[in-house]
Amino acid sequence: MTRPRILDLFCCEGGTSMGYHLAGFDVVGVDKEPQPRYPFEFHQADAFDYLAAHWQEFDAIAASPICQTWSRATEWRGSRSDHPDLLTPMLAALGELPVPWVVENVPEAATDGPLRPDYLLCGTQFGLRVKRHRVFQRGNWTGFELLPPCQCYRNPNLLAFEHKGERAFADALGCEWMTNLGGRQAIPPAYTEHIGRQLMAFLGADQVAAA
Ligand SMILES: C[S@@+](CC[C@H](N)C(=O)[O-])C[C@H]1O[C@@H](n2cnc3c(N)ncnc32)[C@H](O)[C@@H]1O
Repeated sequence: MTRPRILDLFCCEGGTSMGYHLAGFDVVGVDKEPQPRYPFEFHQADAFDYLAAHWQEFDAIAASPICQTWSRATEWRGSRSDHPDLLTPMLAALGELPVPWVVENVPEAATDGPLRPDYLLCGTQFGLRVKRHRVFQRGNWTGFELLPPCQCYRNPNLLAFEHKGERAFADALGCEWMTNLGGRQAIPPAYTEHIGRQLMAFLGADQVAAA
């Protein structure tokens, strides 16, 4: 059975990676910090250096550059300008490559920054008890699949913002293997499983991976 390989840059404890794994990819993660909870092949490295040296080994590339540069929540704890903008140079680096890619960030990276919102996903679209809006831009591929609408507004069953950092929050994302800190930073694997299934179909690999 051949599974396409996807490189997950800025992988942290692996929320993004788990979704691509569930969609049928073999996943390799890269983070500058050690990630003992990361559940797949892992390399501790700078994302830009690893991408430049290894991109040809992969069928697709995913990246989740740090979001503090764009997140409005950063303003409550300090200043956005205290954090380097890794999103803009990552989009530029990926734009030079011929492989399909997906970049994720907070919605403010699309309203205030350079990210094109090809997908805006919410946990309620996947039956999760979290809002966790996240935007994804894709490069060098197309895909489309309808989802139920976002229903987070006035939804009394959602975990509130102040629950971020608690065990229950990581579990609600679908990230039961993570630390609470990993859960604070993660996206729900359901998001990238959804996108990953479309990417698999684009690669023509869905039949192969399912065999
Ligand atoms: C928002 S988290 C990613 C969360 C992940 N997508 C998930 O769903 O679990 C961003 C990660 O980027 C890592 N990071 C920051 N700068 C980096 C760099 N230059 N190279 C590699 N990793 C970096 C941080 O250590 C952090 O783990």
